Amino acid sequence: MKSKITVIGAGNVGAQCAYRLAQRDFADIILLDIVEGVPQGKALDMAQSGSIEGFSSKIIGTNDYAEIKDSQVVVITAGLARKPGMSRDDLIHKNAEIISGIVKQVARHAPQAVLLMVTNPLDVMTYHALKVSGFPANRVLGMAPLLDAARMKHFISELAKVPANEIYAEVLGSHGDLMVPIPRLSTVKGRPLTELFSPEQVAQIVKRTTDGGAEIVSLLKTGSAYYAPGTAAAQMAEAIIRDSKQLFGACVLLSGEYGINDVCLGVPTRLGKKGIAEIVAIKLTDEELGALHKAAAAVKQLCTIL
Ligand code: NAI
Ligand code: 2OP
Repeated sequence: MKSKITVIGAGNVGAQCAYRLAQRDFADIILLDIVEGVPQGKALDMAQSGSIEGFSSKIIGTNDYAEIKDSQVVVITAGLARKPGMSRDDLIHKNAEIISGIVKQVARHAPQAVLLMVTNPLDVMTYHALKVSGFPANRVLGMAPLLDAARMKHFISELAKVPANEIYAEVLGSHGDLMVPIPRLSTVKGRPLTELFSPEQVAQIVKRTTDGGAEIVSLLKTGSAYYAPGTAAAQMAEAIIRDSKQLFGACVLLSGEYGINDVCLGVPTRLGKKGIAEIVAIKLTDEELGALHKAAAAVKQLCTIL
């Protein structure tokens, strides 16, 4: 019998995540959305590609939470994007309300699941889901640092003219302006960026990484990125199901790690069947640690309006 993963929100990111999971053929997928017909239609379309692509994962589209029973991982991508005239605080309130409703249903129908949050603002929504679910901290985490590191790898790869699979990028902090890319620990074929590029080039990579989401929004004009975000969420869900203990940047509750308490923030982790198997402590310089603390304070402040 295959594993079972639910993806909530059948929009751009949710559909991409569900499809990437189905193509990997190790789990059956439930795609759930509040809009009637959309998850059913997208799931049917994806399932019909199975005989072409060669996968046998079942994909069921639904509006009914009873279908998510026994899911080992629930990926939450449901939410609103910021609209003209809506402040960041308005968005937090609206998405927090949506996430509360969803998480309560998940806690009822799939109480043993690992929750993988995607909805923005990511660090705030991960903390909110943790509190509303009452799940242990190891079973609630957020996807963003993996995406942010993938973007950084891409920009380094373009500059270094080296394939991205020979590049390592370390990105910590919050998914936003206070992201903390760490050039000193990011490498091309094992050599740190700070040895390979000029300070101006490094600063440019850091800036483009931090602005990575906004760059795509400004090109698309309606909506935000979804291929890389959906793929990143699928990769993390697979690591959890396979109990891989693979190293990933993830947004997790910090309880003293890096000297930070009671806030969800991006740090290196190992993922396994219980969710977060380990929060990995890496040695940071005072400046890097200061940037991480600044991000923690900003996210904590945003959480006070929940
Ligand atoms: P989208 O608008 O395409 O999809 C959102 C979906 O959520 C829609 O299908 C909508 O019907 C559904 N939805 C709304 N309320 C719901 C509810 N109560 N129950 C079930 N479904 C509900 O948006 P997209 O592009 O898929 O983005 C989704 C979220 O992911 C946004 O908050 C976005 O900012 C965030 N995001 C986060 C990233 C990260 O790195 N963490 C990267 C990319 C996007
Ligand atoms: C992104 O980074 C909008 O969070 C989204 O693409």
